[in-house]
Formats: sequence, C-alpha cells, structure tokens
Amino acid sequence: MKGLFITFEGNEGSGKSTQVPLLVEKLREWGHTVKVFREPGGTPIGEEIRHTLKHSLSNAAMTSEAELLLMNASRAQLVREVIRPALARGEIIVCDRFYDSTTAYQGYGRQLDLLTVKHVIDLAVGDTRPDLTLFLKVPQAVSEERLRSRQSTMPFLRDRMEEADRAFFERVTKGYDAIAAEHPDRIKVIHAVGTIEEIQSAIWRVAAPLAATRVS
Ligand code: TMP
Repeated sequence: MKGLFITFEGNEGSGKSTQVPLLVEKLREWGHTVKVFREPGGTPIGEEIRHTLKHSLSNAAMTSEAELLLMNASRAQLVREVIRPALARGEIIVCDRFYDSTTAYQGYGRQLDLLTVKHVIDLAVGDTRPDLTLFLKVPQAVSEERLRSRQSTMPFLRDRMEEADRAFFERVTKGYDAIAAEHPDRIKVIHAVGTIEEIQSAIWRVAAPLAATRVS
C-alpha cells in the first residue's frame, strides 16, 4: 500500500510551523504512522546544508545558482534516505516545504530560469511527488509583520534567506499564486488569516478525505 505525501508551502510567517504539528497530531489520532520533515533539512546531511544556506557566518556571498543546487542537494538526500522508504511502508509523510518552494524562491524570487529550475527539481525528486500540497496564503503585510516580530524575538539567529528585500518576497508571493493556478488538483490554497483553530479546520477539511483513503 503506497503511503501519502503531504507538503506545506507558503511565504515567511504564513503559520506553517504552527499548523504542521496540528495536522500531524490529527493524523496520528486516526492511527496513521506519520513522519514529519522540514526543508531544507530533514536528514543529517540536509541539516548541515540548511545551516550553510541559512545561518552560517560565511554564507553572505552565496550565488543564486549555488542556493538552487544546495536546496536540491538536501532534497535529493531526503527523498532517497527517508521519504521513499517511508512511503513504500505505507506511512504518511508531512513535509514543511518541498519543491514548490524552489520554484517560488529560486525561480520567481531569485529570477533563475524556470525551465532550468524545473530540471534541477526533476533530478532531485524523480517521480516522488506530493499527493497534496497545502499552500498557506497570507497577505504580504501580515507576512512582513510576522517576520519582523520573529526577528525581534530572536535577534541572535541571523538568516540569510530573510535578508532579501521586499521586492524579492513580492515575487515569491506572485510565484506561489502562479504555481497554485498551474496545479489546482494538487495544490489547495488555504487562506491563513483567522484563528489557529479556523485555519486548522480548513486544512483538515482538505486532508481528511485523502487520509481516509489510506489504511494504516
Ligand atoms: P523555514 O524553514 O523557516 O521556512 O526556512 C526555509 C527558508 O528556505 C525559507 O526562507 C524558504 C527557503 N527555501 C528556498 O528558498 N527554497 C527551497 O527550495 C526551500 C525548501 C526553502
């Protein structure tokens, strides 16, 4: 029995880190075996790559091309080391970001050639594709405000990705809208403003029917 692969996507401050554990908890209550990962990262090699991409003190000169390849190096490892074996065992994978982030951030945000980006993603993931993607959409102003407040509570944790300018994040947002419009069957847009419970319910309405098709 093939498992189920669910990914979360969204701009900074879209509430993914709150909603991912809530969905995982629900799925486990239903008796499913669930593994949860984040990208970049999720494996020992991937977590080292994540550090290089985000927090390393020597990453300021990183080119967009190096960024694209490192994101996908982490992904290639995650797919082969853990995602494929878990799906083959019939488990549910929930991943905080996957390749739509690369299209949005490196493709639309950094403005790398979209076809090249697609080829790199294809190499990294092969035929391992999400069954469902939950795109948590928040207005740009909400995203910026949440990012500012997170940075003010954790000023010691520098993040190279968050140093990009407003135009970059606006392009990322436009990119997500374009990707969601291109894949309406897989990507469900969740309007992530409202209470945590309201957003959780909206997510569950989409995820539950799919989870019900998998017997754990
Ligand atoms: P986060 O775990 O806090 O969301 O941080 C991950 C950062 O990396 C975030 O700024 C989005 C970015 N990212 C990309 O630019 N491309 C990718 O393919 C992925 C997975 C993440």
